[in-house]
Amino acid sequence: MKRIVLPILLVASASLLNAATNKEIKQEAKSAIMKMGGALKSHMKQNMKAGGPEQAAGFCLQEASAIAKEVNASYPKGVSVKRVSLKYRNPANKPTADEAEVLEQIQSDVDAHKAVPKMIVKELAKNSYKVYKPVFINKGVCLTCHGDAQTRDSEAYKRIAAKYPHDKAVGYKKGDFRGAFVVTIVK
Ligand code: HEC
Repeated sequence: MKRIVLPILLVASASLLNAATNKEIKQEAKSAIMKMGGALKSHMKQNMKAGGPEQAAGFCLQEASAIAKEVNASYPKGVSVKRVSLKYRNPANKPTADEAEVLEQIQSDVDAHKAVPKMIVKELAKNSYKVYKPVFINKGVCLTCHGDAQTRDSEAYKRIAAKYPHDKAVGYKKGDFRGAFVVTIVK
């Protein structure tokens, strides 16, 4: 009997420790994503308001990566945020093999109508994590630049296609799984 009890206790305490770490890592990731998402969103909104989809597309093409760089520089040491997608527009947002695996899992959960977690924590090594926050085409406005030929803004898309002739990030419908924010945290 003792032989059985001991391993069970060990497993229980290890998973308790994990739960606390998990929570802390998720909180750190959440605040990093809010900062990045907030910066991208507010600039996008301003440009959309000021000059419509064409200007907003221009912003995404020219400034989004500079803003991402700036926000990344403001994080605590060891924290960085990027966006990835299986159907990426910017080749810089192509997922690495481990990231693609997670994205494929999310896509298959979505296809099977399973609930997708708000955040997924993967431990890469001791004190080193990647946190995924799934992104969905949650607003009609996303289709302006990520929809099909009917829903896209043709002028805005001309600018996008000129910069990204191999763009994969089109043909989406509202509610589709688009990709993820990935927060890397190294303690
Ligand atoms: C005005 C055009 C426009 C709109 C509207 C738009 N996007 Fe994008 N999106 C882009 C461009 C351009 C890029 C490539 C940015 C770059 O150069 O890094 C991009 C990149 C992305 C990426 C990074 C992955 C990749 O494919 O490179 C995600 C995720 C994304 N968009 C999600 C969304 C979501 C969700 C919405 C709606 C809330 C949205 N976009 C609305 C133009 C747009």
